[in-house]
Amino acid sequence: MNIKNILEKTKTDNNISHSDIVELLNSDGELLFKYADECRRQYVGDDVHLRGLIEFSNICKNPCKYCGLRNENHKISRYRLSEDEIIDFASRGVEYGYKTIVLQSGEDKYFTQERMCKIISRIKEMDVALTLSLGEKSYDEYKAYKEAGADRYLIRIETTDKTLYEKMHPGMNFENRLKCLQNLQEIGFETGSGCLVGLPEQTIDSLANDILYFKNSDFDMIGVGPFIPHPETPLWKDESNEIKNKRFELSLKVMAVIRLLLRNINIPATTAMETINPNGRIIALQSGANVVMPNITEGEYRKQYEIYPNKICVNESPSMCRNCISAKIKSIGRNISQSKGFRCKI
Ligand code: SAM
Ligand code: SF4
Ligand code: FES
Repeated sequence: MNIKNILEKTKTDNNISHSDIVELLNSDGELLFKYADECRRQYVGDDVHLRGLIEFSNICKNPCKYCGLRNENHKISRYRLSEDEIIDFASRGVEYGYKTIVLQSGEDKYFTQERMCKIISRIKEMDVALTLSLGEKSYDEYKAYKEAGADRYLIRIETTDKTLYEKMHPGMNFENRLKCLQNLQEIGFETGSGCLVGLPEQTIDSLANDILYFKNSDFDMIGVGPFIPHPETPLWKDESNEIKNKRFELSLKVMAVIRLLLRNINIPATTAMETINPNGRIIALQSGANVVMPNITEGEYRKQYEIYPNKICVNESPSMCRNCISAKIKSIGRNISQSKGFRCKI
């Protein structure tokens, strides 16, 4: 089928085949982005939901090969915010107008269930939605977070290719990752997953499988990010701008196809996209995305949460980012949402 026919078909039937997805990912993207933008407009409207992100610890017990926070990176200077600092950053986020706070960290054992639940209930006193992104935990721990008031949880599958997953995550287990995502849905979280685009040995076929997995699992949020090599990891390589641009385009295509298949979900324009392309988040917002997650961590910690190099906004303050992103969103005729931005399942 030609590209136009596949795209037309997605308007009435979002059960498209693996080979149709591969064709869309191999296309030049021009038409795909138009259809994804129109689908976004029709199903989730022109509002952009802003989520204030607090990166509260860069200490991690895991060895994910792509990530600058991996346990074997001894060059990074590690930090962990105190409970009161986290609460302080969250309340400043609320003052800036954020309706959702996102707490993200490495897998840091200091933050036990008891400590996390205390932080969760203190943030929930501020009348905001709360998203967690803390990695793999037990069913009981996820349940305790939910009972303490957390609304959403993000944990990317990263890749659905089991062999590649286990190569990228030495000592970790693919089935456990799947189980975590299933548990979160069963407990009743708005659940977010997603993948990295451009991992070594990853194929278009494998990305099409990732997309089908997201569709079949009916996740509420999907974040897609281009892989950006970090010098202090085993995957480091110095890449040409051409390779970076291709990876940006491919991430955008994966994201756009996801919009066509999971029409009413929340999809962020990711920070990694803007790290590769200076206008990446706006381009993503015009190709299917409807969420941005500006950093509201204060001070030097922004630099130290270095999951990949040249991360944007490390020298700016939360208020500068808020003004910057608001102006960009308005400049393309979109609105800043005033709601908590839950998925509207119609
Ligand atoms: N530790 C939690 C986890 O792994 O789910 C949350 C923090 S982790 C830094 C958040 C996301 O960063 C991961 O899901 C991964 O996709 C992304 N990430 C890590 N290293 C990256 C890299 N080099 N390039 C692009 N994204 C990366
Ligand atoms: Fe740790 Fe998450 Fe980075 Fe893996 S991706 S090393 S779990 S912070
Ligand atoms: Fe941080 Fe633009 S969003 S400076």
